[in-house]
Amino acid sequence: MGKELRSRVETIRVRTASAHYPVWVGAGLLRQAGQRLRRLRPGCRRLFIVSSPRVWALWGRELARSVRAAGFRPEILLMNDREQRKRLSTVEQLAEELLRRGADRTALVAALGGGVVGDVAGFLAASYMRGIAYVQLPTTLVGQIDSAIGGKTGVNLRSGKNLLGAFHPPLAVLADPRTLGSLPAREYRSGLYEVVKCAVIGAPGLFRFLEQELPAVLAGEERCVRRLLRDCIRLKAGIVSRDERERGLRQVLNFGHTFGHAWETLGGYRRLRHGEAVGWGMMAATRLAQRLGRIPPAAAERIIALVESLGRLPALPPVRVERLYRQLFADKKKNEQGIKFVLPRRIGRVEIVGSIPKSAVLATLREFTGTRPSR
Ligand code: GLY
Repeated sequence: MGKELRSRVETIRVRTASAHYPVWVGAGLLRQAGQRLRRLRPGCRRLFIVSSPRVWALWGRELARSVRAAGFRPEILLMNDREQRKRLSTVEQLAEELLRRGADRTALVAALGGGVVGDVAGFLAASYMRGIAYVQLPTTLVGQIDSAIGGKTGVNLRSGKNLLGAFHPPLAVLADPRTLGSLPAREYRSGLYEVVKCAVIGAPGLFRFLEQELPAVLAGEERCVRRLLRDCIRLKAGIVSRDERERGLRQVLNFGHTFGHAWETLGGYRRLRHGEAVGWGMMAATRLAQRLGRIPPAAAERIIALVESLGRLPALPPVRVERLYRQLFADKKKNEQGIKFVLPRRIGRVEIVGSIPKSAVLATLREFTGTRPSR
């Protein structure tokens, strides 16, 4: 591997009870993928790359060249990467395809794409012949800072998001920020809501950076993207290393997701992109915390202002608050005390709160129902 290329790559390690693996971040990583995967799997030849037609058209040739040069025989499995297709039927189709092509337990799967491709390909790897190895090559901001890291894989059910899945850690995550340059503007912005999430839950310096550098962040300036990736990946790797199975600490990563998942599901996975639903969800969680007197008003206003400053969010689905409230129970973050909410306490700190009176949740939902698109 050339010294010049290697020097641009940062390695952040995830160390859990079940696996240790690197998250490599650096421009040009896709060109090095072959050599890096070869070191992880010295004897492997069959590499099944799961991707979407759009991502494959942009980055497939570069990846294929790199893995071929390292002695892999790549085979491509394309899938529709819309959230509506993140279903068990897609996993089944891909599994039939793996079988048809003779993939056995020694095969390696590579997920090249955004969060949907990563979650589906990960679940395919988790379940095919009871589990084969895979690597994540995320090409979206959400994928690079969040969904590709931590071993959560799975698909949606009609009744709710990510309700069918498995923890299956990848062998490695390779995040090449050049791929973010080819993202549709809406997709990049959608990822920025997850960046705000990271900032609120544990990176107050990043929060200030976002406030101060917003135009450059929105424009995707390289120095900003580097900072976002570094801070968010370090945060996420640290959290999942301490609590891979989401027994406690990892739940903080769900800030904005309890409300967000409900809106995303009730919008039929069409109206809102995942990050946009999280944007709305963070605002609702912040207003709920404020209603309960758990956050200083000035901190709440800063969170709302930062979310709103990312731009116009699509309108929420027109759903009655009682229906929304019921949908909250389809999420996984509930226990015998009812739903647990991740609420901001201040910038850089959140808390997990159960037993919140239904009346407070309904009142918060009412504030948002019928809300016009922000700005
Ligand atoms: N995206 C939330 C988590 O990985 O736990």
